[in-house]
Amino acid sequence: MGLIKEHSITLKTLSLPSKINRQMETFYNPLMISNRNIAILLLNTLPLKNMNLADPLAGSGIRSLRFLKELAPVKINHLFINDLKENFPKVFQENMALNKIKSSNLSAFNEDANLFLLNRVNDSKKPANFCGYFDYIDLDPFGSPNHFLSAAIARIARGGIIAVTATDTAALTGTYPKVTRRKYWSEPLRNYLMHETGLRILIQKVQLLGVQFDKALRPLLAYSKDHYYRVYFQSEIGKEKCDALLKEHHYFLFCAKCLNFKTSYFNNERCRCHHDFTFAGPLWTGPLLDQKLISHMATNNPFPEEQKLMDILHQESMINVMGFYDSHVLAQHFGKEPVPLATVLKAWKGVRTHFSPTGVKTTKTLEEVARLYS
Ligand SMILES: C[S@@+](CC[C@H](N)C(=O)[O-])C[C@H]1O[C@@H](n2cnc3c(N)ncnc32)[C@H](O)[C@@H]1O
Repeated sequence: MGLIKEHSITLKTLSLPSKINRQMETFYNPLMISNRNIAILLLNTLPLKNMNLADPLAGSGIRSLRFLKELAPVKINHLFINDLKENFPKVFQENMALNKIKSSNLSAFNEDANLFLLNRVNDSKKPANFCGYFDYIDLDPFGSPNHFLSAAIARIARGGIIAVTATDTAALTGTYPKVTRRKYWSEPLRNYLMHETGLRILIQKVQLLGVQFDKALRPLLAYSKDHYYRVYFQSEIGKEKCDALLKEHHYFLFCAKCLNFKTSYFNNERCRCHHDFTFAGPLWTGPLLDQKLISHMATNNPFPEEQKLMDILHQESMINVMGFYDSHVLAQHFGKEPVPLATVLKAWKGVRTHFSPTGVKTTKTLEEVARLYS
């Protein structure tokens, strides 16, 4: 047995995580500290109070334990925590005691996550100010979130937030395109832009599941990090809002010959260089970041280890375009030495992107950016 410290919480684990895998007695992944930090930062930043929060795939329970300690007290009405693992109730209770958390606004369950989400509406004894719908649902599964999306969408409250982690980035970036088509109803693209297209393919899939129930799921914050994607959707209700979302589902066209790219309703266009475009999609081409939210998160962040990512995302939110130019990829394409990033940013009037350390988002055309290499 070992003790692990993660910010406000000390966690008792049956074995220290030398190897992270699904077979661990209690699942705890230190690589996901950042994922949990950003969830806390986002919830403390959004102007939402008295929330009913659901953590359906809780693992060790570290996320909820941290919510209880690190979210502002006004934030939580009730926290519902669940994991299917047999030993979860015992391990969670032990960790509550270890951290001296005696919370009356917490209920723990040991069910399948879908049943957990759907059944709370039928509970005869519900906590005060809870009608069976959640203001925040955190889906943090192994691999694809697909299995849990329908229940989460069914039980998200108006204006509520669904947070989705996907660690099956190989499926979203088209290691096997058949898998992307089957699981995500979209065509992947494998090139330097694949994490942006993968993230946007995930977003459109979740949105398609939402619109059939007139729920418009708009991303407030979407990013790619390490081995996973993470998206925070805000759920709004209404046919018009859903139609507006669907208008932002397009194809992303990329020319492998000249590196030109654009979005389009069609996937069979020719590039100006007369080469056929390759394509990804359909996918979400709208904003990945709510500018006001990310600006507040970047300026009020209590986690120094997240500051670099917050600052880049904040910059990135200023130029809302799909796709980016990679200064190294372009330099290689034109047979030139790479230009320092600061020079590139100035010349292209661009901003950095978190998708690549050498990537730049800009509204400039390929001809304009290519001048740097002439
Ligand atoms: C990636 S871990 C969760 C990590 C946790 N959210 C955190 O922040 O540390 C996924 C968890 O989902 C649980 N799980 C898998 N399938 C489930 C299901 N159908 N219902 C409920 N829990 C499930 C596993 O036992 C595992 O603990």
